[in-house]
Amino acid sequence: MAMRDDIESILLTEEQLQKRIREMGQEISRDYADRNPIFIGVLKGCFMFMADLVRNVDVPCSIDFMAVSSYGNSTTTTGAVKITKDLREDIEGRDVVIVEDILDSGVTLHYLTGFLQNRRPASITIATLLDKPARRKAEVYAKYAGFEVPDAFVVGYGLDYAEKYRNLPYIGILKPEIYTK
Ligand code: IMP
Ligand code: MG
Repeated sequence: MAMRDDIESILLTEEQLQKRIREMGQEISRDYADRNPIFIGVLKGCFMFMADLVRNVDVPCSIDFMAVSSYGNSTTTTGAVKITKDLREDIEGRDVVIVEDILDSGVTLHYLTGFLQNRRPASITIATLLDKPARRKAEVYAKYAGFEVPDAFVVGYGLDYAEKYRNLPYIGILKPEIYTK
């Protein structure tokens, strides 16, 4: 069965994503001119957004990745965050931009920001592709946010449900019967 059959509706098309990500890259380039930022992607969900975002950044920068434990196969957060892959780069004195797929409860980014702050970077900002403000539990400020999305479970363009759908080139709303059956 085709993956498209599991999608209730397409929320953001490839064209909408690319247009907005280009704007975000330009904004970041203006803000970080002469600052040699380090982009830190939060795996695995960030991988497509990170690749497209940094291609639209035209200032010198470096790239690194971290991984944190998240939802398992459920669609709601457990509240516990664990670092499962740490950085390779030293971020002391660096201007850090955390790159995330979606800001939901905020628990992950709240934890991660505090964790990275302990390493004394010059600054930390957050670039998230999607923001689901209705679900916020922890206070987090995303300076760069691509799209506000409704309180529905979305997949595609890096975002998964039980490790599926990451390869969809668009963001879609998953049919609720997929995760309730
Ligand atoms: P938070 O800690 O609740 O903000 O959750 C952030 C993480 O949960 C994201 O990096 C995603 O991996 C996952 N997540 C939250 N909402 C969704 C969704 O609608 N679809 C897919 N993954 C989601
Ligand atoms: Mg996930």
